[in-house]
Amino acid sequence: MNSTYKLTIAITALAVAMSWAATPAFTTGHRSEISLSRAKLMQSMEDAAKGLMRAADTGAAVNHAEIIAANAMKLDGMFKMGSGGPKTRAKDAIWLKNDDFKSFIKDLQRTTKALVAATKSGNQDAVKAAIRNVGKNCGGCHDSYRGPKI
Ligand code: HEC
Repeated sequence: MNSTYKLTIAITALAVAMSWAATPAFTTGHRSEISLSRAKLMQSMEDAAKGLMRAADTGAAVNHAEIIAANAMKLDGMFKMGSGGPKTRAKDAIWLKNDDFKSFIKDLQRTTKALVAATKSGNQDAVKAAIRNVGKNCGGCHDSYRGPKI
């Protein structure tokens, strides 16, 4: 084997190694797909909540509230046992105290429906009170079941 050929093999091996390293799915220590899709859903609720607080009219407020409520309904199926993966913010307590965890999801579904109703009423005080109730639920669940930023 001549030396040029050896060099080509070495470069090819390095390129393969680098492409593996750049693909999160093949590297340990990254968030699982499920954890990432949960994070995306949660982030969209947070963005909608911020949008709602800045909403200029009733129509915009209702739209934001409906996004939050629709996402709350999707949470039911997103926390299957053991879906934490090697890296996630989901604490094991979710599955150890699953009834309590699920009660936060139920409450979120209830408080976000009330939020939609409040935005439709156009009553600012009612909207503020409903946002506070939703916020307490987000924060309550995070305190017990969400781990530190990763
Ligand atoms: C039933 C419990 C629960 C409720 C209710 C809840 N969250 Fe979460 N939230 C979690 C958990 C658990 C995680 C971590 C998910 C993971 O990493 O797999 C999380 C993650 C997040 C994140 C971080 C996403 C990231 O990039 O890591 C944001 C933002 C967030 N939630 C916003 C909200 C908002 C806003 C609400 C209320 C409208 C809310 N959450 C309601 C449990 C909850």
